[in-house]
Amino acid sequence: MLKTIGLVTPGGDAPGMNAAIRAVTRIAYSRKLQVLGFERGWDGLLTNNFKPLTPRAVGGIIQLGGTMLHTLRCPKFEEKEGVKRAAENLTANKVDGLVVIGGDGSFRGTLELSKQSGKLMVGIPATIDNDVFGTDETIGFDTAVNTAVKAIDQIRDTAISHERIFIVEVMGRKRGFLALNVGITVGAEVILIPEDECKISQVVQVLRENARKGKKTGIIVAAEGVGDTAVIAKEIEKHTGSEVRLSILGYAQRGGSPTARSRLLASLFAERAVDLLCQEQGNKVVGIRNGIISDIELKESCEKVKIIDSRLLKLAEMLST
Ligand code: F6P
Repeated sequence: MLKTIGLVTPGGDAPGMNAAIRAVTRIAYSRKLQVLGFERGWDGLLTNNFKPLTPRAVGGIIQLGGTMLHTLRCPKFEEKEGVKRAAENLTANKVDGLVVIGGDGSFRGTLELSKQSGKLMVGIPATIDNDVFGTDETIGFDTAVNTAVKAIDQIRDTAISHERIFIVEVMGRKRGFLALNVGITVGAEVILIPEDECKISQVVQVLRENARKGKKTGIIVAAEGVGDTAVIAKEIEKHTGSEVRLSILGYAQRGGSPTARSRLLASLFAERAVDLLCQEQGNKVVGIRNGIISDIELKESCEKVKIIDSRLLKLAEMLST
């Protein structure tokens, strides 16, 4: 009989994590469950660093970026010994089920911990990268897209004034989901993503063609995973003769008040996660697919690679002419 659930936010933070912590806590309480919030990601499970979460303790956080439980990259958790200690601490604290709010890296750790502990575990996908298999969208992705769009709309003003070309580097780790969505929604002339091999010569050709049509300025949105954007900027400047500037948006994309969309996803995913634990269904990752809240096996989410939407790629090409 489920009595106590644990909550942890390992890995990179994302706007909307606090909304998910709040929703898990309040929904669990409505089911008469206790909630223990483990601090600083997996380190909290290793060092037994946790605090009871109550409906009052999670008040006033839905609008806050980041995670009130903090997070920490935890190399010790990558060793068998570390996972074993975490499993022992879960048992010692009588934790019956664990909700892990994070990205694909967090879910790989969760899979190891579930094997070691035999406890019920459910993942809530929260990462600005949107690269988790099993969900069309992750908590925080919509917020990061909007943060980047606002910044790039501002960069476009000065690009036009100076008739410059800007390469704007966005996050996304090794994937291009963030760059593709941002590129389309800022009307980028070129979008560079790791999944779509694009040579400098092709970029130069597009920019030269634009210049011939009288379009002297341009925005190139580049995912950080495509390589050294400073080198790419220099190459483009050399082959086009235009002034090219590089702007790396960086960690601003990880923060900020979550959008309504990110908050709604957080609340819906939390409800599904607590429901699964109450039904004693573990080793799942919740998500949204074709607008429907769903869940898949944790192992499948960890093993399969999410494919980039080719329709969006084609749309981006058509719109950038
Ligand atoms: O996974 C989220 C993310 O922001 C990636 O987009 C980025 O590459 C990475 O985290 C940065 O990791 P860290 O916060 O450890 O520097």
